[in-house]
Amino acid sequence: MDMQKKIVMSGIRPTGFLHLGNYFGAVKNYVRMQEEFECYFMVADLHSLTTHPDTKELKTNVHRVLSENIACGLDPDKASLYCQSHVYETSELYLYLNMLAYIGELEKTVTFKDKVRQHPENINAGLLTYPVLQTADIILHRASYVPVGKDQEQHLEMARNFVNRFNHRYGDVFPEPHAFNYGDELVKVPGLDGTGKMSKSENQLATLYLSDDDELIRKKVMKAKTDNGPTEPNSPKPDYIDNIFGLMKLVSSAEVVNKFERDYSNCTIRYGNMKKQLAEDMVTFISPIREKAEAIRNDEQYLKEVMEMGAEKARKSAKATMELVRQAMGLNYFAPNP
Ligand code: TYM
Repeated sequence: MDMQKKIVMSGIRPTGFLHLGNYFGAVKNYVRMQEEFECYFMVADLHSLTTHPDTKELKTNVHRVLSENIACGLDPDKASLYCQSHVYETSELYLYLNMLAYIGELEKTVTFKDKVRQHPENINAGLLTYPVLQTADIILHRASYVPVGKDQEQHLEMARNFVNRFNHRYGDVFPEPHAFNYGDELVKVPGLDGTGKMSKSENQLATLYLSDDDELIRKKVMKAKTDNGPTEPNSPKPDYIDNIFGLMKLVSSAEVVNKFERDYSNCTIRYGNMKKQLAEDMVTFISPIREKAEAIRNDEQYLKEVMEMGAEKARKSAKATMELVRQAMGLNYFAPNP
């Protein structure tokens, strides 16, 4: 591989179906980045154990996430597409990094506090150190760019802190990792109910999944909250209307978006028509991905080959990094004295 290329790493938890937020926040960037950079993309099955300790569905879910990534355009020959648990070096680096992470900062993490609220019966140490494991994933390949959605910004900031602490204590091994998006800003795809974001496991009716069939897509879009429309020209948009425009910008043509913007400004907008148009554009966008993903998911042999090939590339990079880490940390007792 070309040593000049910057290294890219990202991951997705196999805790549910991929949705538009995952696509526009992350996967769309992966597909473009694989052409330019040395890329490592993985299914974060170890992370999913922090909230989903029951592993009965895990294999199916890992297959599903892999299939959906490939259906979106990820090419296992260009990027390394692997499963987190196949690269044991992750766990070793996670252990070392845990000694550099402070309880106070981990307890303050927004995602940790959310999870504590959602699962008060299972506040485990893995949940607390989730950002440490995520840092291990990233820096195991000495990655600089991490394509993620806006919700991961704080985890990346923590990753930079851990990296700087490591480098300061043991010597410069890791570049600082930064959240990446081709646009100016990290993306947050809102839910159809006008509150919060699209998410794998919460508010299912407000989330458009890449596996939704055409009728379900139409049904969800038509249910999106609207009102009677503006009464004053050029009124500001309420959040739930702004979100519908936001979703339209993702999948509809500029002409279509401009038409509804004009209708909004001069108070002639009909939200029923707007949602019908959005629903059809969503169907056009999602249905080919859904169909491709289904076909790939049925080919278990192919998925096995993809995972093996991805794991091999990822392990090679991980092994090289861990040599440097052990050496920097003074854990190489058999090396000759310097
Ligand atoms: P996860 O599985 O929750 O989400 C996968 C990716 O999708 C993005 N995303 C969104 N982007 C925009 N709008 C939304 N509504 C939306 N919902 C999700 C997320 O930002 C993410 O990029 N902790 C990570 C998984 C992970 C990881 C890593 C990521 C594990 N190790 C190393 C990067 C690097 C997570 O739970 O993502």
